[in-house]
Amino acid sequence: MKIYAVTNQKGGVGKSTTAHAVGVALANQGRKVLLIDLDEQGDLSFIVGANQGPGAYELLTKQATLGEATQATATKGLFIVPGSIGLASLDLVLKDVPGNGFRLKEALKGAKYDYIIIDVPPGLGSQPANALNAADALIIPAQANILGLKNLNVFWEKTIKPMKKTNKALKVAGILFTSYKASAVLSKAVEGAFNDLAQAMGAKVFKSRIRNSAMIEKAQAGHKAIFEYSKKNAAGLDYLEFVEELKRTRI
Ligand SMILES: Nc1ncnc2c1ncn2[C@@H]1O[C@H](COP(=O)(O)OP(=O)(O)OP(=O)(O)O)[C@@H](O)[C@H]1O
Ligand SMILES: [Mg+2]
Repeated sequence: MKIYAVTNQKGGVGKSTTAHAVGVALANQGRKVLLIDLDEQGDLSFIVGANQGPGAYELLTKQATLGEATQATATKGLFIVPGSIGLASLDLVLKDVPGNGFRLKEALKGAKYDYIIIDVPPGLGSQPANALNAADALIIPAQANILGLKNLNVFWEKTIKPMKKTNKALKVAGILFTSYKASAVLSKAVEGAFNDLAQAMGAKVFKSRIRNSAMIEKAQAGHKAIFEYSKKNAAGLDYLEFVEELKRTRI
């Protein structure tokens, strides 16, 4: 079993879209996959068409077991622990509770999946802490520009590095450029700096880049991954290629 957290403290960089695409692609290949939506916005839960019911909040506050918090999705082999607005109060509820950053790790002990993919909300609260303590490796979607680089440097220094002290086995699988515009020339300096940062993380910038496509939103409105919505869409092909690269990536 491999546990990936899809994370970046910056919002709107394609975390939920990536968690979904990777989960659906792996499930379509016959793997048993669990998505965990730790975001109070519940975007990933919406995209898969999850029902209301016990989910990540109930799991992390020990009001539900993993089995009780898990739903099947319309995709064979793909399951989800949904996110809900209750997660917004998680910091407050778990404040000063011993072991509060290890609730997810504890809950996943004995889980029987080939892959668990955690969608981590932006910011630095309880959900990111639980995700990074539970994960084997991080997938970091990022925008291939100077601001994406600047923010990722901060995320590395202020979040990932300190978390490696409590989860010593934590690895970074790589940085994934999303909403990539082929026309936007990534300056050599910025590209070099991303490569240097990835190296400092013991990782790489994935060769696969997810191109920008307005069709992604249409697919999500129809509760589908982009490559299910359109077989020829560039971003869909990119995600399928990325999943193969991810499987080849040693962590
Ligand atoms: N490759 C892409 N091309 C065009 N639009 C995209 C692409 N990837 C994601 N989007 C769109 O960008 C928006 C943000 O994507 P997403 O919700 O996956 O980001 P996020 O990092 O999870 O955001 P948040 O920080 O709010 O959780 C969504 O509307 C999504 O449909
Ligand atoms: Mg999201």
